[in-house]
Amino acid sequence: MLPYTLVIQHAAQVLTLAGGPADRPLAGPDLHNWTIIERGYVACRGDKIVAVGPMDELDLAHITPETRLLDASGRVVMPGLVECHTHLVFGGNRAHEFERKLRGESYLDILASGGGILSTVRATRAAPEAELLANALHHLDGFLRYGVTTLEAKSGYGLDRDTELRLVRVAREAGRRQPVRVVPTFLGAHVVPPEFKEAGPRAYVDFILREVLSDLKGEAAYVDIFCEAGAFLLDVAQYFLTQAHKMGFGLKIHAEQLHDLGGCEMAAELGATSIDHCDYLTPDAAGRIARRSQGRTVAVLLPLVPLFLRQDKYAPGRAFIDQGLPVAVSTDFNPGSCPSKNLWLAMSLACLKMGFTPQEAVAAATLNAAWALGHAADCGSLEPGKRADLLLLNVGSVAEIPYWLGENPVREVIVGGELQ
Ligand code: NIG
Ligand code: FE
Repeated sequence: MLPYTLVIQHAAQVLTLAGGPADRPLAGPDLHNWTIIERGYVACRGDKIVAVGPMDELDLAHITPETRLLDASGRVVMPGLVECHTHLVFGGNRAHEFERKLRGESYLDILASGGGILSTVRATRAAPEAELLANALHHLDGFLRYGVTTLEAKSGYGLDRDTELRLVRVAREAGRRQPVRVVPTFLGAHVVPPEFKEAGPRAYVDFILREVLSDLKGEAAYVDIFCEAGAFLLDVAQYFLTQAHKMGFGLKIHAEQLHDLGGCEMAAELGATSIDHCDYLTPDAAGRIARRSQGRTVAVLLPLVPLFLRQDKYAPGRAFIDQGLPVAVSTDFNPGSCPSKNLWLAMSLACLKMGFTPQEAVAAATLNAAWALGHAADCGSLEPGKRADLLLLNVGSVAEIPYWLGENPVREVIVGGELQ
């Protein structure tokens, strides 16, 4: 009988996230009603979870002197957080624009004046690769302390062939050098770079399709595009995603962040894995997306962004859930609209501003976020066979998680069965 290598025992609650359908994200009542085990344990062998259950079912025959025992008395054990939307790799920062924003300039005004995303593009193009890597590693260390064990990293601050490929390369290298698993996404279609100002958005996406995407096969599974006034309008976004899909890429979109252009519905029709932001997506459109995608497209909600951009409009998350649309929650970590890595705070805001329950917020930042990354088969829940990525928290119940506003509740992080 093979011994367990690690057992976390006597947990006040084990948040398993198990109990929903195996073939799609949690939606509707399932988002809240997954299994919580009171007085439970989680057993791991090597980098995998092998058993989860109540303490009175822990099989002592598997515990030997080599088994590491971790006492979770009075505390919550849950899966590692899955951070499914970040812009991890960039040069510089935008503290100078923070002050402009505080004086009343809007996000799109700052972008139209050549700042915003374009200011980070200039800093990123100028940064040596080693500096980009060092910055990314610094941010990943911060995410790991917050209990993030899988993280998506978008490119999008190069907007030329070499720099965009460099950003994907840096994300992958950063993933190899530390414990957090990094999943790169290609966001070359973030905004139109200055070199294509005359030629226009369609010419720029044609350039990406022709000269960049072929080099990304096997390097990034998804492409993303920013569908917004001042970036790419609906027709160009549809054209880009359609062509990229034909080349074998999975699809994501930044849409309905500042206006309702119909980007979410368009992308979902094309089979997008996730539609992100959704602040201006209507409940009716959410219902149509849920039905037509058969509950497979995940709406990734990013509540720290309206907070940081000083906007009153938050995605109507409660209505989305009631319409049966699967939802995830993420930070959108980036230097412009969310310089925060605090996914716990995003979960609190999902409750306070979008009407989530604590259970729904936890599911949105774990299992449904894993679905939004195409990684639900190996992370996002505590079930036998999944990677042993788990957290021991300082709190005693799921309700406390979004309650301690702005705190980091993480006591221990385990990645692939290893205590960090
Ligand atoms: O997801 N909205 C577009 N892109 C990012 C922000 C990027 C930036 O401002 O640097 C976002 O919010
Ligand atoms: Fe984003």
